[in-house]
Amino acid sequence: MTSFSTDDSIAHASPAALRALIESRRSVRRFTAEPVPDEVVRDCLEMAVLAPSSCNLQPWSFQVIRDPALLKRLVPVCMGQNAAKAPLLIAVLARPDTWREACANILEYWPQEKIPEITRAFYTGKALFQYNQGPLGLLGLFKRQLVRLVGLRKALMRKPNSQAEMRVWAVKSTALAASNLMLAFQSHGYTSCPMEGFDEVRLRKVLDIPRQAIPIMLLAVGRQGERAIYNPRLRFPLEQHVTWL
Ligand SMILES: Cc1cc2nc3c(=O)[nH]c(=O)nc-3n(C[C@H](O)[C@H](O)[C@H](O)COP(=O)(O)O)c2cc1C
Repeated sequence: MTSFSTDDSIAHASPAALRALIESRRSVRRFTAEPVPDEVVRDCLEMAVLAPSSCNLQPWSFQVIRDPALLKRLVPVCMGQNAAKAPLLIAVLARPDTWREACANILEYWPQEKIPEITRAFYTGKALFQYNQGPLGLLGLFKRQLVRLVGLRKALMRKPNSQAEMRVWAVKSTALAASNLMLAFQSHGYTSCPMEGFDEVRLRKVLDIPRQAIPIMLLAVGRQGERAIYNPRLRFPLEQHVTWL
């Protein structure tokens, strides 16, 4: 499993090596039939969950779909698109519903013998209030009014204070893990395509997805097939997206 370090030294991948990996990833829509070994999948998932997450609550889960019958059923769920015919699909789920269990997990899996008091206090106190929106989101409603009032006098975090904000909260961290996951497969010589082109209602009929979980993407994975990349890479000029202050 993942090892933990409080070492201040940071291992640097060379920028050139990282750029090469990032540049080599493209959305691949046709795969060979070669299966992706479970060891590779496990290694990539381990790298995926090294992504940062809000308060380290790791609000994500993954369903690894290898069963040929299940894979076949998912093709029409993805409206028959080529990428869905991959030998492996991973349903990447954002989990706005697991924060309470995650608070307990932080304490259970704390990688040192003694849990710092500040950490214990946060995960048994403040965090439980911060993420709890209460039945029908009523506590969230109350918290929204509270932050408006308190926020007049001091800076404070104003979100997530509703079920909708909880969904955004979970999706943010999960998207980072998904990005790691794609790059991890790329580093193993496998290619991928993130897909949001699926019918969520039908997806939920095929996969056993917890009601509150949000399938943010189905990741198609496999060895690159022929005519797999549809277009040359296109990115808008950086100046269009970046403000230097
Ligand atoms: C959230 C998300 C959803 C996507 N959904 C699909 C999809 O359903 N089908 C598909 O072929 N590509 C899908 N893509 C891939 C994008 O079309 C692709 O990333 C984009 O065109 C840039 O190409 P590149 O990934 O090769 O750099 C998706 C990408 C993202 C990030």
